[in-house]
Amino acid sequence: MTITPEPVALDQVNLNDLDAFQRGEGWGMLHTLRNEDPVHWQEEEAPNHGYWAVTRYEDIWAVDKDSETFTSTDFVNLEEVEDELRDARRSLLETDGTRHQALRKLIQREFAPRNLMKNYEAFLRELTKNTVDEALKEDSFDFVEKISADFPIQVLARLLDVPREHTPQLIAWGNEMVANTDPEYTEHLLDSPESEKYKHLPFRSPTVLDVWEYGRGLRDERVGGDGADLVSILANKMPEDGIPLSDTDFNQYFSLLVIAGNETTRHAISQTMLALIQQPEALKALQEQPELIGPAVEEFLRIASPVYHFRRTATKDVELGGKQIKQGDKVVMWFGSGNRDESVFPDPYRLDPTRTNVDHMTFGKGSPHLCLGNNLARMEIKLMFEELLPRIDTVALNGDVRRVRSNFVNGIGKFPITITKKG
Ligand code: HEM
Repeated sequence: MTITPEPVALDQVNLNDLDAFQRGEGWGMLHTLRNEDPVHWQEEEAPNHGYWAVTRYEDIWAVDKDSETFTSTDFVNLEEVEDELRDARRSLLETDGTRHQALRKLIQREFAPRNLMKNYEAFLRELTKNTVDEALKEDSFDFVEKISADFPIQVLARLLDVPREHTPQLIAWGNEMVANTDPEYTEHLLDSPESEKYKHLPFRSPTVLDVWEYGRGLRDERVGGDGADLVSILANKMPEDGIPLSDTDFNQYFSLLVIAGNETTRHAISQTMLALIQQPEALKALQEQPELIGPAVEEFLRIASPVYHFRRTATKDVELGGKQIKQGDKVVMWFGSGNRDESVFPDPYRLDPTRTNVDHMTFGKGSPHLCLGNNLARMEIKLMFEELLPRIDTVALNGDVRRVRSNFVNGIGKFPITITKKG
């Protein structure tokens, strides 16, 4: 069974309708745009000014690889950050050019496949096994709660060398900072008047202040040491442009690491499992031939598309897909839509574990900002399904799946399942 979205009439498309995304109707809107108006002007409520929604693979790629014409420095989410707040809120994600390269290179090597395998694979395999063992003590459980929620941030805790007893606190902070448009996750909704108080903070989340204070504490203990963890590197290594990390740079880097690899990987694992339940022939193929799991990770990432979009801003007037983009216009790359582009991926809604050359855009494509943690995420997903699938005989939904109310993350909040175990 392939899950194809219900079509939505072009004049009914509203990419700002978070409730529609929560009902799973985002895919239908993106399908219509790809086929009828691939570079589409989406109005927004004030104080925002609207944006171009780019939905075809080729156009998204053209935007993502041209960081001179489409800058990240005017911020990368739909929120329009006021000029005077930008420096306080700027992280690696919103920096371009040589400073961006210098900041990125500080820790890039740690995320290279060889280093990840050498330093983290054994730990990760063990953590995955324990997570699966613990979950499979019950026949019915919530997949998010027992499998996918805490696992990615436990991995980050290890990379940052957070003491074991502080890991639960880091998990709690991670949860508070994610999904800032969903009342189930946060008391400080991004679109609420109350969030104005926190507009100087990333994601307008006051929790970030606790995370920063905690991060600086770790850094201060490690300055001058020879630790190999990410905090020690940020504390001690000089960026190659010779400009040391300010306190703000450090804060932003630390919270970006905690946020970026947490919710995304969680939803990648949950969405993959949901697709496998909805498309049992794919699950069966992977159970019969577990050696397919490794190569199928790219297909999992394409189908899961945990991040719907990232934004750029045009630095000059330019044509894209037949539309005239004006300097200063917001241009939003709908990566999730590129991953369903039928001209690149035949039968795009089908999870096909044997699909080859899956050149998805889940981590961006051709961008200097290509996800820094992509190899880590790949490893986490591979290990999780290698540990989990061979132990499952049957798996079925055991209640309603609750999606996250967001047009930014394609997330799952509640995911009740019942399984029978092998053997
Ligand atoms: C499946 C999981 C993940 C997905 C879908 C994902 C997606 C993305 C995307 C699309 C970007 C590009 C943003 C842009 O172009 O503006 C990005 C950047 C980034 N990601 Fe990931 N990510 C994932 C996991 C991780 C992990 C595990 C980490 C590690 C801590 C991480 C760290 C980062 C960082 C630091 C950046 C900023 C890179 C830069 O600006 O140069 N991500 N991610």
